[in-house]
Amino acid sequence: MNIVLLGPPGAGKGTLAALLKNELGVPHISTGDIFRSNIKNGTELGRKVQGILASGGLVPDEVTIEMVRGRLGEDDTASGCILDGFPRTIAQAEALDEMASINAVINFVLDDEEVVKRLSGRRLAPSTGRIYHIVTNPPKQEGIDDETGEKLIQRDDDKPEAIRHRLEVYRKETAPLIDYYRGKGNIIDIDASPAPEAVLSAVVEALNG
Ligand code: AP5
Repeated sequence: MNIVLLGPPGAGKGTLAALLKNELGVPHISTGDIFRSNIKNGTELGRKVQGILASGGLVPDEVTIEMVRGRLGEDDTASGCILDGFPRTIAQAEALDEMASINAVINFVLDDEEVVKRLSGRRLAPSTGRIYHIVTNPPKQEGIDDETGEKLIQRDDDKPEAIRHRLEVYRKETAPLIDYYRGKGNIIDIDASPAPEAVLSAVVEALNG
């Protein structure tokens, strides 16, 4: 089963994907995570996209599409995957249509005020990408990952100016995908405001219904 997670920055796509992949038994593919891993490892791609991610802009379509094409060609996606953060433009959605058939698009619905609260309080474990929130999902010990003991970090693009820009980019480039998939009849709107387990239940119920 191939699932696309669509929604504004900070709506909880990565959090849901970490839970949903266990339910569905398919890998979670996050383009943002792949870019951040390349930046951390100092690859050529990482050097090319570092400034773009920090500012909250979009990596050019041709770079992103080829990266996803390569990832979808790997063996572990044979029975499907959860795509988180791709597609983000109409050109990416059209390219994806050529690569895979999409069973469902989960559209996360959340207002801007909640988005800003979620992003500004988010913290990450740098080696695994495990996601925390200083208020709604804090680690056992402040600033420290529960499992590895490493120091949590804040993403560069979770600073106020980058958050503003990411929301603008979402409205201009990504929100049109809602109508794109509405036209195909495979979109499911999900209220992203409840706690993660409740969002998961709503998604699983919708996928089974
Ligand atoms: P990406 O990493 O995809 O960022 P994003 O889409 O902006 O989404 P986020 O990861 O910020 O948020 P999320 O919805 O996953 O929320 P999360 O679960 O973490 O992309 C980053 C950058 O990479 C882009 O800006 C761009 O530069 C580039 N890029 C990536 N894909 C690209 C593409 N296709 N084309 C071009 N460029 C691309 O949750 C957020 C916080 O809320 C956490 O603290 C969490 O604990 C908390 N939370 C989550 N769910 C809940 C809940 N239900 N209740 C309470 N708190 C919650």
